[in-house]
Amino acid sequence: MRKRMIAGNWKMNETYTEGVALAEGLAKELADGTGDVDVVVCPPAVDMKGVAEVIDQQNAPFALGGQNVYWEEKGAYTGETAPNMLTNIGATYCIIGHSERRGYFGETDEDINKKAKALMAHDIVPISCCGEPLEVREAGKHVEFVVDQIKKDTEGLQITDPSKYVVAYEPIWAIGTGKTATADDAQEVCGAIRKTLAEIFGQETADGIRVLYGGSAKPNNVAGFLEKEDVDGALVGGASLKADSFAAMVKAAM
Ligand code: 13P
Repeated sequence: MRKRMIAGNWKMNETYTEGVALAEGLAKELADGTGDVDVVVCPPAVDMKGVAEVIDQQNAPFALGGQNVYWEEKGAYTGETAPNMLTNIGATYCIIGHSERRGYFGETDEDINKKAKALMAHDIVPISCCGEPLEVREAGKHVEFVVDQIKKDTEGLQITDPSKYVVAYEPIWAIGTGKTATADDAQEVCGAIRKTLAEIFGQETADGIRVLYGGSAKPNNVAGFLEKEDVDGALVGGASLKADSFAAMVKAAM
């Protein structure tokens, strides 16, 4: 049985001060716990230590994740963050392969695959993103596009505990646009992702891997996605920047 997951991707929003306040607000909103739902927040790198302290001090029921990582252990890689820098401050998850990193920063599937391996070697759970641009969707090629990403992003991975690898399907045309995929659109691709994972890792492993939907997910639409068989949660951008709306999404998943 897969535990549902609601993860917040703050992207490049919230200064350290604002991020700490947001984490404190979320700790209050979720003070009664999150039931069976895994909750993750992924702040900007410079906010992470502050959010980790809020989690510790308030015993908050959410985990900390990064938004990016580099695959080398240490060295002359200006501007990058190593996996053990994430673990050292208490992060247990990390987003990789977000379409904004692929699009603006030229990340390739090969890079994403190396990042997944580096994270897993440090027992950090990758939240590995995939998703098609509008023209691919309009050409009706979205399933094969995403399946191809999944095959490349997972190449050579050893998944012994399927709860420790997460996929997020985020159709690019639905990110930050207010244009959501329908729940059926999400199910079509999330189902194809699980089928691909089953071909690669076996059905039992695929059945344990969470597949999230992301793209204009909000308190008023998240329940519809979660009803779908292969949608196990949401990766939330804009609606994760307000403690009350993000908490409402967690509660909708409980
Ligand atoms: P929005 O929820 O703002 O559309 O962002 C989705 C996303 O990219 C999360 O990673």
